[in-house]
Amino acid sequence: MLFNEELLRTFLTSSVFGKHIQLLEMTVSTNNHALNLAFKGASEGTAVLADCQTGGKGRMSRSWFSPPGKNIYTTVILRPEMEPALSPQITLITGVAVAELLDKYCPGKVTLKWPNDVLIGGRKVCGILAESRSSAVKIEYIVVGIGINVNMLENELDEDLRRIATSLKIETGKDFSREEVAARLYESLEKWYFIFRDSGFAPVREKWLECSGMTGKEISYTSQGATVRGRVTGMDNGGALLCDVNGEIKRLIAGEITFAAR
Ligand code: BTN
Repeated sequence: MLFNEELLRTFLTSSVFGKHIQLLEMTVSTNNHALNLAFKGASEGTAVLADCQTGGKGRMSRSWFSPPGKNIYTTVILRPEMEPALSPQITLITGVAVAELLDKYCPGKVTLKWPNDVLIGGRKVCGILAESRSSAVKIEYIVVGIGINVNMLENELDEDLRRIATSLKIETGKDFSREEVAARLYESLEKWYFIFRDSGFAPVREKWLECSGMTGKEISYTSQGATVRGRVTGMDNGGALLCDVNGEIKRLIAGEITFAAR
């Protein structure tokens, strides 16, 4: 079932985000579509929302499972005034916005995993993929793609995903209006983006650390082919995860972490 634009607009209270929206029945990737719109000059807050994607993209060249009629696949165009090196902050802002939103549907069960996963009960319910075009000193635009598993059932997930992925429906047993969730998502994203724009990254970092519960946790990650174990101590102002490895604080700026087995 396609998104109903009229219904979505009845839920939308944001001032900019989602006001211009392109609803698509099918696209390769909402990120690709949004990159194209941004290149042609689309304004900040313009959103692309698709019922399904034929080539949904995940991080690290993975694909994003994007069947029709069930979930949210959306991308929002941003034009932040920031240096390219700080662009990872956008993923973290988005994570906070999604976590705050989903906590309303699943109170107390939503967590963030650095850098871009939103989990419910430890299983992934949302992934975030930001892609940008920058000059040497300035971001021209950044598109932030968000995939939220909404009404997907366990048996609709690929077998290899069942252990690690979930949806709002799987967690609550309830069906959700995708239009309402999408509208609330644009509101939440706008709220956190404006907090960032007006007050900087510190409030986002604080909320991110609170939602993630990662401080003090043992993690492992790969560096130059070797597995490194350490303990999370916080996040710096650029969005890098800080990790104590044998008494030395390491800054993780990209990549993937795993929670160490207890
Ligand atoms: C990840 O966790 O690896 C990131 C997944 C991002 C998926 C979303 S769905 C909407 C947007 N369009 C894409 O092709 N990818 C993002």
